[in-house]
Amino acid sequence: MTEPEYSARGRWKGRLTRRALPREDALMNSLTADERSRLAAIWQHRAAMERRVADSFEQIEAALLRRHAGASLVALAHRAIDDEYRHAELSRLVASRFAGYELPTPPRLTLEVPEHRGATPELRDSLFIVGQCVLNETTAGAFLEVCLSQARGPLAVAALRELLSDEIDHGRIGWAYLASLDERTRAGLSTWLLPMAFLNLREWRRESPDDPDHSPALAWHGAPAASVIHGALVNALESLIVPGLVELGMATTALENWLLEGAPTDRAPTELMTEPVWRG
Ligand SMILES: [Fe+2]
Ligand SMILES: [Fe+2]
Repeated sequence: MTEPEYSARGRWKGRLTRRALPREDALMNSLTADERSRLAAIWQHRAAMERRVADSFEQIEAALLRRHAGASLVALAHRAIDDEYRHAELSRLVASRFAGYELPTPPRLTLEVPEHRGATPELRDSLFIVGQCVLNETTAGAFLEVCLSQARGPLAVAALRELLSDEIDHGRIGWAYLASLDERTRAGLSTWLLPMAFLNLREWRRESPDDPDHSPALAWHGAPAASVIHGALVNALESLIVPGLVELGMATTALENWLLEGAPTDRAPTELMTEPVWRG
């Protein structure tokens, strides 16, 4: 078996899950061979993406340290690295159960840190923290929630619950960091909200393309139809993220106008963006 990368310093002291994963999943037996291999591929791809998020949290921790963020936030980001290793391994194990044999650790995906061209190094740190935690981890929570709401298979339900319990804390890093900034810095961040939300949603949509052969059985094991996922992501932006940003006194008009248009991601909403933020 592949040596897991989660460490003894982690919250579960090196254990993979809070509770043992169910050994039996009778619902899995009614899957076709094709459905099993598709679910294995979906969960294995998630394992690769979770591993990349661990790399992202290495950068988040460094950015929080550079910005002299509170010790509790730095500690949470440090733990998040370990959490994401755990998520990667958990997803690989679930993928292996669908495959029916032990799958190897998937190849590493390269982390591309957003450039945020035109931002000062200080602002770039803040944008990275907000982009990853406020946007990506909050939408990841909404994604897992909708996966869980449709899941019936005991293994998928248990795995999704474990994943979801961490994403909430990861989102909190971003919200708490944003709340700790002074009003001027937050105002400087406001014009970047729409471009960051646009890029984030575009990435999520690319990762969950429409599949004409989707079957309800896939949703029972953690992979809902694309339209269901997309609806949950936009709903998270409308009902969680925008109200949270408004609460912190940030300018969200451009973001809200884009959402009113249906949050299109086939082209950049440059006409809604404020210069000099958007440079392509
Ligand atoms: Fe994760
Ligand atoms: Fe996370």
